[in-house]
Amino acid sequence: MNPLQSMETAPTFETLFDQSYERVRTAKQGNIDFFDAFYMDFLGRSPEIRNKFRKTDMKKQRSMLEKSFYHLLVFYATGDADDYMQRMVERHRGREVDISNHLYDMWMDALIDTVAKYDDEFTDETALAWRLVMAPGLTYMKYK
Ligand code: HEM
Repeated sequence: MNPLQSMETAPTFETLFDQSYERVRTAKQGNIDFFDAFYMDFLGRSPEIRNKFRKTDMKKQRSMLEKSFYHLLVFYATGDADDYMQRMVERHRGREVDISNHLYDMWMDALIDTVAKYDDEFTDETALAWRLVMAPGLTYMKYK
C-alpha cells in the first residue's frame, strides 16, 4: 500500500499527542490540575527526587514546567535547541541541581502515568505518542 495513503487513515502520533495534551491541560480531578498531579506523582517516586526539590517553590516550578513543555514541543518540531533548551540543560547539569539520567526516565514514567489519569480517552497509542514527542527533548537533556 502507498504509505501516504495509510497515513491518511490513522491519526499521526503528533495529532494523538496534540489532542491528548489539549484534554489534560484543562482537566481537573478534585481541585488538582494536570501539572500539580504530575509533580505529586514524580515526588512520590523516590527520596532522591524529593531531596532534589527540597528547597523549591513548587508553585513556581509547576508553571515553569508548563512553559518548558512548549520548548520541548518546538524542539520536537524543528530539531533546533533554542536558548531556553540550552539553559535548561545547564541548570540541570549544574552542581546545585545535578540530575543524572535515570531520573529523566522516572520523569517520563511519571508523566505517562499522570496523562493516563487525566486523559479520559487514554490508550497505549496515546502513551506512545507522548513518549515519541517528548523523546528528542528528553534525549537532548540527558546527553547534551
Ligand atoms: C525533560 C524533563 C525536564 C524538564 C522539561 C524540566 C524542566 C525544568 C525547568 C523549566 C526548571 C526551571 C529552570 C530554571 O530555574 O530556570 C527546572 C528546574 C529543576 N528541575 Fe527540572 N525538568 C526536567 C527534568 C528534571 C528531572 C528528571 C529532575 C529530577 C529530580 C528535575 C529536577 C529539577 C530541579 C531540582 C530543579 C531546580 C528547582 C529549583 O530551582 O529549586 N528536573 N526543571
